[in-house]
Amino acid sequence: MKKKITFLGIETSCDETAAAVIQENDDGTAKILSNIVSSQIKEHEKFGGVVPELAARSHVENIDFIINRALIESKLEIDDMDGLAATAGPGLIVCLTVGLNIGKSIAAFASKPFIAVNHLEGHALSPGLENKIEFPYLLLLISGGHTQYLIVKDIGEYEQLGTTIDDALGEAFDKTAKMLDLGYPGGPNIEKFSKLGDKTFYKLPEPIINRAGCNLSFAGLKTAVLRESKNINGDQQLKYNLAASFQHTVNNILVKKTKVAMKQFEVKTSLIGKKSFIIAGGVAANQSIRENLTKVCTEMNFVPFFPNLKFCGDNAAMIAWAGIKRYKKKLFNNLDFIAKSRWPLDPDAKYLKGPGLKL
Ligand code: KG4
Ligand code: ZN
Repeated sequence: MKKKITFLGIETSCDETAAAVIQENDDGTAKILSNIVSSQIKEHEKFGGVVPELAARSHVENIDFIINRALIESKLEIDDMDGLAATAGPGLIVCLTVGLNIGKSIAAFASKPFIAVNHLEGHALSPGLENKIEFPYLLLLISGGHTQYLIVKDIGEYEQLGTTIDDALGEAFDKTAKMLDLGYPGGPNIEKFSKLGDKTFYKLPEPIINRAGCNLSFAGLKTAVLRESKNINGDQQLKYNLAASFQHTVNNILVKKTKVAMKQFEVKTSLIGKKSFIIAGGVAANQSIRENLTKVCTEMNFVPFFPNLKFCGDNAAMIAWAGIKRYKKKLFNNLDFIAKSRWPLDPDAKYLKGPGLKL
């Protein structure tokens, strides 16, 4: 019997310490032998956000244990691996360095191929852990640090159609939750408390909604939430109304911009018939966003693939999976690969942040 490709993945780009052992099934999907994620939410909660030095220290303290757990649960040993994959960027350098260095060390010690994975590619390929999806597909990547529409053409081949010109969507959720004193992490709490509020109560702005293609902007929306939050004076119902109105406005923006991105995807790929649409990243866990974008898919003749909730947030299964895909294309990396804080999937995409931007 042909041996299945097996990889150990390591992820420490932000506040999750994670390791996973993944195998490729014969049908091209993944067999998850283990997927261990240790979240540092409790440690950062009191600061209302991730403190890089604390996160890095916590990665150092936990990473050995997490890797061991992943191996024990998989019932395999390092020797059984075809290679190792570790996140090398983008993210917090002090955090990335922990997982990257241990990944490189194990690879060197065990004489195994090493693959430095782009965290965003991990998210972009994550729906493939459970579904067989043909290239090209349209991806909406929505996480704490990134918000992008991309054409995924192949492993390592991405074309960016649009991005945020200011805040990432997860950041907007987190900051809104902070302004409303709804706790950390923001996204899940905004979703939870929105259910108790009237989403039509506040009329909030939808920045650049009718221009700039499928580029997005959330800074004006955030400022409007800040302004309204000052008049709440501890009224719980108004707070829930504002959370619900924020989430509703985000949905309106994503519905409109996704349709624009889908039209651009059709023109650029000349695909006819059913096309695939993927959402990935932490914010893709939001049920209201999933429901709204599913409706858009029906209207625009796209098939939605949304990763299981455990693969939306940061995890190492997606990193090991990206490692396997790169291994098959012999896209190995040297052991002098260094961590990168910025690492766009489409190197030709224009950088759209900063003053003086014309759209
Ligand atoms: O992908 P991820 O785990 O980490 C990054 O790579 O950034 O995404 C984290 C982001 C956070 O901003 C978090 O608030 C947001 O995803 N998030 C959500 C939900 N769950 C997590 N946002 C909205 N609704 C959710 N249910
Ligand atoms: Zn992420």
